[in-house]
Amino acid sequence: MGRKNPLHTQLCDQLGIEYPIVAFTHCKDVAAAVINAGAFAVLGQTQSSPDEIDSNIRWMREKVGDKPFGVDLVFPASVPASGDIDTLRSQIPKEQFDYVEAMKEKHNIPKWRNTPVDWNLGWLNKEMPQKQLEVVLENRVPVLASGLGNPDFVLKRAHEQGVLVWGLVGKPRQAKAEIDAGVDGIIAQGYDAAGHTGKIGTFSIVPQVVEIARGTGVPVIAGGGITTGRHLAGALALGAAGVWTGTVWLASRESDVNMTLKEKLLKANATDTEHSNCVSGFTMRTLRSEWHKEWALPEAPKPAPAPYQILLFADIKASAFDHNLENFMTEAAGQGVDFVHTMLPARQIVMDMAEEAFEVFEEIYGDDDDE
Ligand SMILES: Cc1cc2nc3c(=O)[nH]c(=O)nc-3n(C[C@H](O)[C@H](O)[C@H](O)COP(=O)(O)O)c2cc1C
Repeated sequence: MGRKNPLHTQLCDQLGIEYPIVAFTHCKDVAAAVINAGAFAVLGQTQSSPDEIDSNIRWMREKVGDKPFGVDLVFPASVPASGDIDTLRSQIPKEQFDYVEAMKEKHNIPKWRNTPVDWNLGWLNKEMPQKQLEVVLENRVPVLASGLGNPDFVLKRAHEQGVLVWGLVGKPRQAKAEIDAGVDGIIAQGYDAAGHTGKIGTFSIVPQVVEIARGTGVPVIAGGGITTGRHLAGALALGAAGVWTGTVWLASRESDVNMTLKEKLLKANATDTEHSNCVSGFTMRTLRSEWHKEWALPEAPKPAPAPYQILLFADIKASAFDHNLENFMTEAAGQGVDFVHTMLPARQIVMDMAEEAFEVFEEIYGDDDDE
């Protein structure tokens, strides 16, 4: 008797997709390619204005037709309730501000040419994510993912609009709270991951959350360090219904990431990433740069809390990209960067990941024909 397709999971049924692979990306071209290859993509829209989100949603619909896609926003609890960029910049603590000004001089960092992307308010106050959220709900985007913060406050409205809500967690108690609140999917993300992440490793957090979700019908999506088919097979073996992936798409052919940074990523290995609060004020895994080294010096002050550390870095980060200062370039990157050494089309990445996962299952359980 033929064995069940090991890659066909509850997540495939929830979304009507072929492969249980979710791409998190800021790049619409990557998202469309992944979806059209039979997987799923969630577009990171934290740094987009409500109008931009509206037009990006339309663009996605043109490219993927009726296939579903998601939008990711963040709802950080510990940032100011409101405040425009000038107000927030005027509140940056002096000690850290002076340290960064001295750093600019020490490294001869010229002023940026393009307004820093991190001045967009999505991460910086509580007001903007609410405006972004309105656009996502009005457009009835199939999936809303909350990358930070419990999305319980939006569940009722989202469900009335037919929008599924996923929450991303790094701790079991957050998973319990979000599942109890009624999320439709829970992303269990480990320490290996790019971006904001806690201290529990992927191999520990995923089965813990699977246990919490057992019997609730809520699919668990594993995140953190997942870049190959072997990782995908491993995540399914841990009880996940799919994988949530970010780093693997960064250096893809379609990705709009700066080419110097892409090359830096392709050369990087796991130990070139750092889990630190120097980039955003929250602990975050990013590719090591001169910025990280400066904040690790004995004379460095403690990084400022979010959102002020984001603003402190915003100028230098913008200068790094405008003036091609490779040593100050960084991006969120997970430990799985170690497996990303070739620039491949996003479709190929989906296919390679699925094929390798099938092979792994065959390796373990044997081919159907062997029975
Ligand atoms: C370049 C980049 C930017 C990211 N930005 C966000 C973001 O804006 N919001 C968010 O919720 N997660 C963000 N993340 C984290 C991803 O959503 C995801 O949790 C993570 O990449 C998964 O781990 P992996 O990179 O090891 O696959 C980002 C990740 C990367 C690689």
